[in-house]
Amino acid sequence: MPSPRATPRQKSLTSPHGLNPALQRMDYAVRGELVLRAEALAKRLPGDYPFSRIVYCNIGNPQSVGQKPLTFVRQVVAGLTHPELLKGDLPDDVVHRVEMFLGRSHGIGAYTESKGLPLVRERVAKALRKRDGVSADPDTIFLTNGASEGVKVLLQMIIRGPDDGVMIPIPQYPLYSATLTALQGRIVEYYLNESQGWRLDVNELSNRLRSAREQGVTVRALCVINPGNPTGQVLTRENLVEIVEFCEREGLVILADEVYQKNVYVDEKPFVSFKKVVTELGSSVELASFHSVSKGLFGECGMRGGFLEVVNMEQDALDMIYKTLSVSLCSNIVGQVAIDVMMTPPQPGEESYDLFVKETSDIYESLKRKAGKLSQALNTFKGVSCNPSEGAMYLFPRVDIPQKAVEEAARRGYASADVLYCIELLEATGICTVPGSGFGQAEGTYHFRTTFLPPEDQIDGVVTRMRDFHDKFLVKYS
Ligand SMILES: Cc1ncc(COP(=O)(O)O)c(C=O)c1O
Repeated sequence: MPSPRATPRQKSLTSPHGLNPALQRMDYAVRGELVLRAEALAKRLPGDYPFSRIVYCNIGNPQSVGQKPLTFVRQVVAGLTHPELLKGDLPDDVVHRVEMFLGRSHGIGAYTESKGLPLVRERVAKALRKRDGVSADPDTIFLTNGASEGVKVLLQMIIRGPDDGVMIPIPQYPLYSATLTALQGRIVEYYLNESQGWRLDVNELSNRLRSAREQGVTVRALCVINPGNPTGQVLTRENLVEIVEFCEREGLVILADEVYQKNVYVDEKPFVSFKKVVTELGSSVELASFHSVSKGLFGECGMRGGFLEVVNMEQDALDMIYKTLSVSLCSNIVGQVAIDVMMTPPQPGEESYDLFVKETSDIYESLKRKAGKLSQALNTFKGVSCNPSEGAMYLFPRVDIPQKAVEEAARRGYASADVLYCIELLEATGICTVPGSGFGQAEGTYHFRTTFLPPEDQIDGVVTRMRDFHDKFLVKYS
């Protein structure tokens, strides 16, 4: 006789309230509905569409749209992965770098210290001293899986309960809103001023902080993205000083997202790090800054290399970052090595130097040309205005969407009329962008975010197809 079985219990995750509601509420537009539609559409191509492929302008993932990897970083990673290659004809400086790593690690197949290899942290500190002209301590540097991991660790530390909040820019990169939602912390929005080139105004910070406090939020940190995503503005040193002084006065931690520090296209606004300003002012403000190999001129998004540097934090805080990172043992070693190469590239006189300079300047000059070309073109579209991209990899044009389109979007249940705009743009042209509503925007305004990463010879085609679509959209909903 088979033994009687107990009545099965309802499955845990499929029960009506089985999933974490905070994660259900969490949204990440950059990989959201538009991308899913684009992927579905790609599978139907070539079909009955006026285009033969999807142009992915939705995400800052340069190598996915044709950017070539830099030779030096790939050679170092190759040599480390398979040291037999060192017997071949790799350049001397590659061999030297690989031997240095092999001599001070157990190779890429072994876990490292949870903060990352001491060798890399020492060399990052040295490179930061050179960048900023102020001291840097390897013990305050933590290597992470991309900048994202560092941001998440800091936000986890900061949000202690449901009344704690963090100020984030609007528009923002949705890593911040998504993580804060998941942590059930409070999002305190501050708006960048679009009519002044997405300026970060300290009066706006003050007003938003005051009103958040009046509503019972314990505001603990301010996040600044410089250069901005999706907005592309670069902050001046004067602006950084004001922000540091504001945070010091108000007791806020600064979370400085500086992953686009090498993507600055305007000579009059060189990148200045928060670390430099905090140190030069002698400020006691607590700061965490984030950097990554995904952006800049490396574009090695898949290597997941990042680091965070903290300043003015007590040992308790450093210990907690360490403990949190140690739960996942260590960041991946390829990413750690890529960070080393990015922070200390080949130097003059070394064998790889000329090629490295050529490859990086080609990428930089091309990004700069594409940024200018696309923003100038967008500004000639009827009802579109677009601040130029001073930095980063994106444009965030504002679009006057006709009332009928607003009504149609509402009828279809879209979160905003720019969702309708981006869906129709995708379906008419194959160009995949992200609706402005995914980043946040001032009430009653509509935007979309586009990268300017596709190869230069595709940019003219992108502009023509966008313009054609835009004109038809206006007629359709007039
Ligand atoms: C402003 C900003 N911060 C952080 C990240 C995350 O980068 P990573 O690939 O290093 O995790 C991105 C990625 O697009 C970004 O735009």
